[in-house]
Amino acid sequence: MVLVTGASRGIGAAIARELLARGCRVGCGYRRDPDAVARAVGPAEPEAVLPVPYDLADEASAERAVDTMLDAWGGLDGLVLNAGVWDGGRLATLDPADWWRVVELNVRGTAALARAALPALAKGDRPGIVLVSSIVGLIGHAGDTAYASAKAAMIGFARSLAKEVAADGIRVNVLAPGFVDTDMTALVPERSRRAIADATLLGRFGTVEEIARAAVFLSEDATFCTGSVLSIDGGWSL
Ligand SMILES: NC(=O)c1ccc[n+]([C@@H]2O[C@H](COP(=O)([O-])OP(=O)(O)OC[C@H]3O[C@@H](n4cnc5c(N)ncnc54)[C@H](OP(=O)(O)O)[C@@H]3O)[C@@H](O)[C@H]2O)c1
Repeated sequence: MVLVTGASRGIGAAIARELLARGCRVGCGYRRDPDAVARAVGPAEPEAVLPVPYDLADEASAERAVDTMLDAWGGLDGLVLNAGVWDGGRLATLDPADWWRVVELNVRGTAALARAALPALAKGDRPGIVLVSSIVGLIGHAGDTAYASAKAAMIGFARSLAKEVAADGIRVNVLAPGFVDTDMTALVPERSRRAIADATLLGRFGTVEEIARAAVFLSEDATFCTGSVLSIDGGWSL
């Protein structure tokens, strides 16, 4: 029983599909449209999929999301903190309100749901938390001071939380993807896309399926990993 946030589109939807293919029951976080979950995960056993409303901007929705899982299935074994927002712009030009919105939504929303889920996870089966950060949180990227700050914060958060909850048997790991074509990256200008592709050793962008397999590895298989950061970036960071 794994809760995946931001499972209505993109990487989160692919993680949900991969977990379902592995036989997990999956709570699929969405912000706006519950029907988007069914469209995103495709044909799955209906009893294996639970649409879960959750908004990074609403701390109370974190408690409600965990309660939704417990009411439906009576437990929680895993949490994939995938939902995130991006807004680009250099420090000198990005409106400070937009800058802080990116940092606050990504960090505060993620921390709120992790906090809310800990008591249930402590009773779970081989419990684990996976945070979907970004490679730019490690290597930086011009035009991304807000987003990279948030994604770097998630790494420090995860490594600290790993130390806090290891005694409860909860693993906390981080995925740091490179560039993947999704709605989030659709607005990245062509010049930046070309520069990122050129800097990526494998010469292409990642697919949502490749990121999903790595997320499921950390969530389900990496039983001796905690506090680790798995870069999955085609070599962009080298
Ligand atoms: N794409 C990349 O190149 C890339 C690279 C590195 C890391 N990442 C990270 O991977 C994660 C997924 O990215 P993606 O590319 O799949 O993005 P996406 O296609 O834009 O999908 C974003 C998902 O997050 C949800 N979401 C957006 N705002 C939310 C909010 N305020 N509260 C709750 N959920 C919200 C969306 O739900 P709705 O459909 O309801 O809006 C959607 O399911 C993000 O954390 C992103 O930072 C992406």
